[in-house]
Amino acid sequence: MKLFDDEKDKLMDHEYDGIRELDNHMPTWWLWLFYFSIAFAVGYMLYYQVLGWGPTQHEEYEMAVTAAEAKFGSPEEADPVEDYTWTISEDEADIAAGKELFMSSSQICFTCHGNNGQGMVGPNLTDNLWIHGCQPEDIASSIINGFQEQGMLAYGSGAKISNEEVQQLVSYIASIQGTEPDGAKEPDMSRAQPCGEGPLAQSDL
Ligand code: HEC
Repeated sequence: MKLFDDEKDKLMDHEYDGIRELDNHMPTWWLWLFYFSIAFAVGYMLYYQVLGWGPTQHEEYEMAVTAAEAKFGSPEEADPVEDYTWTISEDEADIAAGKELFMSSSQICFTCHGNNGQGMVGPNLTDNLWIHGCQPEDIASSIINGFQEQGMLAYGSGAKISNEEVQQLVSYIASIQGTEPDGAKEPDMSRAQPCGEGPLAQSDL
């Protein structure tokens, strides 16, 4: 094996399958980087974890939400369901606008409730059975608040729409009552209730 002069005293006295090793030291700049990162980690831990001077990620999140609410108002404050008179429009233009929202890539209702409201991941919206109520304000509240735990975000996708647009969706849902679309999803009878009275009640059920 050929060695340079300055390598002779660095050669370590072990050998594995003919492979030998030089005892080269880490470069100084690398060592300093290493020491610096250790010192930084200690400082970081003291600052955020031990002394609690810096905000944790949860505190930072709360601060950001508070700041955003101060600037834009909280969504519930902006358009409370109670402060609006929810009715059902039978106007063709409103129903068509509601259908367009239902099928839109911004609200994505159809992805969970089916192209005809027959239900998929979400419940069938054409039958007389409702989990969260069948009054126009109940449907509006279902849409505005969503059911996060079951996967439905506020406004379907989290993309906010105006109360007028929610009203159009409610009108569209009212218009598909009793249509018995193909592939209608079975109701969850442990939770669903027939729509007793109200504009969405279906007389033949
Ligand atoms: C990611 C899937 C998903 C999307 C998108 C979605 N939903 Fe839902 N929706 C659900 C689920 C799941 C439920 C049932 C919640 C429960 O079990 O409590 C539900 C419930 C509802 C209800 C209440 C039904 C009842 O029986 O009381 C209405 C009304 C509704 N959705 C309308 C809409 C509209 C309108 C849109 C679009 C703006 C939409 N949903 C988008 C999954 C979705």
